[in-house]
Amino acid sequence: MISGTKIAEEISSNRSDVWRLIQQLRGLGVDVAGHPATGYQLRSVPDLLLPDVLRPLLRGTIFDTHIHHIYKIGSTNTTAMAAAADGAPQGSVFLAEEQTAGRGRGANSWQSPRSTGIYCSVILRPMLPPSEVLVLSLAAGLAVQAAIQHEDSRVTPDLKWPNDVLIDGQKVCGILTEMNAEATRVRYIVVGIGINVNQTSFPADLPATSLRLTTGSEWSRVDLVAALLKSLDREYRGLVENRHAKESILERFAEHSSWVSGKKVCIEENGSAFEGTTKGLDLRGFLQVLTPHGMQTVLSGTVREK
Ligand code: BTN
Repeated sequence: MISGTKIAEEISSNRSDVWRLIQQLRGLGVDVAGHPATGYQLRSVPDLLLPDVLRPLLRGTIFDTHIHHIYKIGSTNTTAMAAAADGAPQGSVFLAEEQTAGRGRGANSWQSPRSTGIYCSVILRPMLPPSEVLVLSLAAGLAVQAAIQHEDSRVTPDLKWPNDVLIDGQKVCGILTEMNAEATRVRYIVVGIGINVNQTSFPADLPATSLRLTTGSEWSRVDLVAALLKSLDREYRGLVENRHAKESILERFAEHSSWVSGKKVCIEENGSAFEGTTKGLDLRGFLQVLTPHGMQTVLSGTVREK
């Protein structure tokens, strides 16, 4: 225990201010034992994705100014799309501790238990035609992969076209990219990223894993989300500023994914299914699959291993 008087001296303040600040910290989830008569003891600091904690870690990126943290929300993507429609600036970030209606690709939902995973959506306003948005969303997968490896180089995540990040064949992250566009010009894009971080179990019918289950130890969500947004910032700036970035993203995606070439797959697209072997990405980022009836281009389907 440290007395209130000692803390007050250290911060050049008084004991009643210390009490007020301790109450504020408790309101944020910091576990502090004690009261003014006994002194205080810090028991644990929560791994909350608070803007004040993240802002200094994101300095110099496009994500350091408009960080929104919400304890409980339906879906960060829905909120970010509505905010973008209302004029929220590029670089706005929406982070939730918990989602009650997390959305996945297609009609899927995204399990989003409290303070366990990362549920993050960002608003981008690139000067790109809608046909380039797939490349941006492939770049988001590269950013997630790099962030996980930055935090623990022993983990080797795989990328499954278009947007899944897998570890040992099980899904650890999904990305939902949504946009509002004219035929030739994007108005805004929301990239929504869900990462399974500290989950200790999943429903039996969900072929998913978490970083904690893979590595056996708890991960800092703050460190991971900071690494993710830094890495996404790098990829995004590259794409909008450098005309060769698109080729580099497609090359790196193919290099870092075991699914892009030589994988026997089953594709489900628009209610029908076909089988074949993957043969790389085309110039726009679509997956090429060689089938008994010739080469097919997968535009929006779900890819499964055969
Ligand atoms: C998928 O693999 O189907 C995509 C899952 C995307 C989940 C994230 S969590 C943050 C953001 N908000 C949502 O409602 N969905 C995305």
